[in-house]
Amino acid sequence: MSVAFAREPSWAPRLFPPAARAPRAVQTARMLLDPQGYARSLRRRFGPVFSLRTYPYRGALVCAAGAAANRAVLTDHARFTGGDAAALLAPAVGAGSLICTPPPLHRGHRKLLLPPFHGARIACWRERVRELVRSGLPGLLTGDGVAVRPWAQRLTLDIILRVVFGVQVPARATAFRHALDAFVATGNLAVLFLPNPLQCDLGPLSPGGRFRRLRAAVRDLTREEIAARRAAPDRARRDDVLSLLLDARDEHGAGLDDAQLLDELTGLVLAGYETTATTIAWTLHLLAHHPAARDDLIADLDAGSDRLLKATVSESGRLRPAVHHAMRTAAHDTELGGHPVPRHAFVAALFSLTHLDPELWPRPDAFRPERHLGAAPVPYSLTPFGGGLRRCIGVSLAQLETETVLREILAVAVPEPAGPPETARLVSVTMIPAQGGRVRLRARRSHPAA
Ligand code: HEM
Repeated sequence: MSVAFAREPSWAPRLFPPAARAPRAVQTARMLLDPQGYARSLRRRFGPVFSLRTYPYRGALVCAAGAAANRAVLTDHARFTGGDAAALLAPAVGAGSLICTPPPLHRGHRKLLLPPFHGARIACWRERVRELVRSGLPGLLTGDGVAVRPWAQRLTLDIILRVVFGVQVPARATAFRHALDAFVATGNLAVLFLPNPLQCDLGPLSPGGRFRRLRAAVRDLTREEIAARRAAPDRARRDDVLSLLLDARDEHGAGLDDAQLLDELTGLVLAGYETTATTIAWTLHLLAHHPAARDDLIADLDAGSDRLLKATVSESGRLRPAVHHAMRTAAHDTELGGHPVPRHAFVAALFSLTHLDPELWPRPDAFRPERHLGAAPVPYSLTPFGGGLRRCIGVSLAQLETETVLREILAVAVPEPAGPPETARLVSVTMIPAQGGRVRLRARRSHPAA
């Protein structure tokens, strides 16, 4: 059991913010099946800070919504610590990855990782990303109803393999794709949420055994890439993230060894591909179900502007953020929103709920990209990439991918509904469309590029 879970305080109503009385299994099921709806009902009942008694927490997950509580959890690093809180993900991403690294190590570690993800560096990949999107388009433009998320997962994984890992050989990318698809399959990662004894390796057919075998396959492939990149004669000229990280040094001249790189790359791929694919799927699905917003966006893009493009991606990230919440742990006994929070409790900045706060976002359930065209939003009212010292380092890459996909698709096709609007489901911390974000892409009769 990870340290964070071992020291988590047990549930006692007077120690935590208020919680529903429903059994833990019921609260867990409601959260998985309707993450925004259930959280909203608890907020109506208890206010912006409440406890969720769900698995796998022994005590409770303290949830914070609203700009003030969101800001406190994301930025008051003395009270709410990152790293430990991601302990749940450590068996998947690797305990040495940035996501799982607690302070004070986190700061130096992040400094090494940030430069290759800087916006200007990522912009150099624009053409390559566009080529990858274009080569994937036939799989989507079938004229039939199609689930966007699986399509986008393949694309975003290919992009990460190219941009981050520097994989250039198609057969290697295919091997990675197969290994990762099996590893991140919902059933496999659900192991992380099982009670501890069931996570153990009880033979190849047990969930724990299967998890370890699939993880080993991904890590073996990653190890091979690290070795190949270290040995590459053209390393100095390569601009993939891995090649840059091999030469990264901190102020004491220390770099990342292979074990750290292995955890780091596993963390980057797991943090980066499903989240971006889910964002792409939600955005196209929402556009299909909001024809006025969709037509305005197409007209704006045809006119050579990207104002509405950025506003549309912001609105999709507000209404259906791919990551439901960011996690921290309480560094000491403290309070939040006037409620007690015990030391070592898990605390979640529930931005999926903050994004639906009617005081911050009038008519919060409406999909209205134009709301992002005016003044900047209230600080910490919109945080799809988290915030503070642990804000997502992949923002520029994710935005480049999402914007390129929308640009390329909307130049040739119009997304239309392929069924009713989909509800959200929670898988780990990712909030996915229940049917994969189905749309039908109708070919455009005329467009400027034709
Ligand atoms: C639309 C796509 C994405 C979304 C919505 C997203 C969202 C997030 C969120 C909410 C966090 C937690 C922030 C916090 O705790 O305050 C995070 C962290 C992180 N993300 Fe992303 N992410 C996306 C894409 C990516 C990509 C493409 C990469 C890299 C390839 C990436 C790498 C990371 C890493 C390494 C962290 C940990 C940062 C740290 O702990 O210092 N993400 N992301």
